[in-house]
Amino acid sequence: MTSSRISGFYQFSVEERLDIVTKDKGLTDVERRILSGEEILPMSLADSMVENVIGQISIPVGVAANFKVNGKDVFIPMATEEPSVIAAASNAAKAAYDLGGFYTSTTGTVMRGQIQVLDVTDPNAARARVFENKEEIINHCNTIDPTLVILGGGVKDIEVHLVNTVKETMLIIHLIVDTKDAMGANAVNTMAESVSPLIEKITEGRVVLRIITNLADKRLVRARGVFSAEALGGEEIVKNIVSAYEFADADPYRAATHNKGIMNGITAAVLATGNDTRAVEAGAHAYAASTGRYRSLTTWEMNKDGNLVGSIELPMAVGIIGGATKTHPVAKASLKIMEITSAVELAGTIAALGLAENAASLRALSAEGIQRGHMRLHAKNLAVMAGAEKEQIDTIVQLAIDEKDVRYDRILQITKEVQGA
Ligand code: MEV
Repeated sequence: MTSSRISGFYQFSVEERLDIVTKDKGLTDVERRILSGEEILPMSLADSMVENVIGQISIPVGVAANFKVNGKDVFIPMATEEPSVIAAASNAAKAAYDLGGFYTSTTGTVMRGQIQVLDVTDPNAARARVFENKEEIINHCNTIDPTLVILGGGVKDIEVHLVNTVKETMLIIHLIVDTKDAMGANAVNTMAESVSPLIEKITEGRVVLRIITNLADKRLVRARGVFSAEALGGEEIVKNIVSAYEFADADPYRAATHNKGIMNGITAAVLATGNDTRAVEAGAHAYAASTGRYRSLTTWEMNKDGNLVGSIELPMAVGIIGGATKTHPVAKASLKIMEITSAVELAGTIAALGLAENAASLRALSAEGIQRGHMRLHAKNLAVMAGAEKEQIDTIVQLAIDEKDVRYDRILQITKEVQGA
């Protein structure tokens, strides 16, 4: 592809940006029209996706520039309503680009399904009986999804957890399922439901819940990147970023916001690719609390050259087949723009984005604060609300920024002045 390191990408017009992406990724006319909003999601498709459909909501899709992930330049589509998020990720990625960009690894594509067994009189013996019958349980599940098995996936193992609740010891059986390029909820839930009668026979208990867990701790992704101290603004800022991380890791109040900033990037890419944002968010926050205290999903250090090194690790249950990833035209175009060929590759790219987003937030917070970056876009939104014409917006925004006054009433006044009203 064209290098993702495009200087001043944000200064191009929407048309020019679309041209670059369309040409570089070989998007079809239809894909271009869908992305540009000229052609909307057919209502019949919307109606087949969810229930009681009466409309649609449009969220802007931008592409984060300057990303190099495992040596490959990539534009990352992001669907978000929040100003500054895409610019911030692109800026941070620029600081990492010349130092190699991002490197990623995963623990694979394995999900867990939970089967809750109640009223077991002998939980320890029942646990033993489940293991004695492990092969039969696994074989039963794998006959349900032969295609997944042909692709190398399916149930690989079983775990049995004895969970002490206020009332009883519950037997919780985990199906350990490799769902390959699918997010896997459908496959896992179908298997869990289908194998339950067999589980009841073996345990002599009563099965109630049969559902995937979003704490996908066997589907972890990691990303790492070195950010140039010079590009970030110098040694002092690097030190401040490291202490901002130490603050978040030690204080859940700060960690919640720190991780929210990471999810600003991650959720935007998960949404743009038609994946389940809530599943990824639930997994991320549960994992952040997996030591018993809610902590930072990232780590930040200064390396021997004085540059900033970041790493991130979290569950990433995203797929490239199934669900909206293959039905929603924007999701399909997003995957094409990223030239993604596997769920593992998508997970790594999204983790790199989360790391960059966190770097950008911490850099701004450690230096000038985040409001300055927000100001221009905020002013632009207000100018649109005030009825500014497209060609008037830049003038109005600049006047408000020069005055350091971006309250709506002042922007409305400026808009009226510019319009000669
Ligand atoms: C705002 O959406 C995200 C930040 O609050 C994240 C952070 O504080 O690290 C800027």
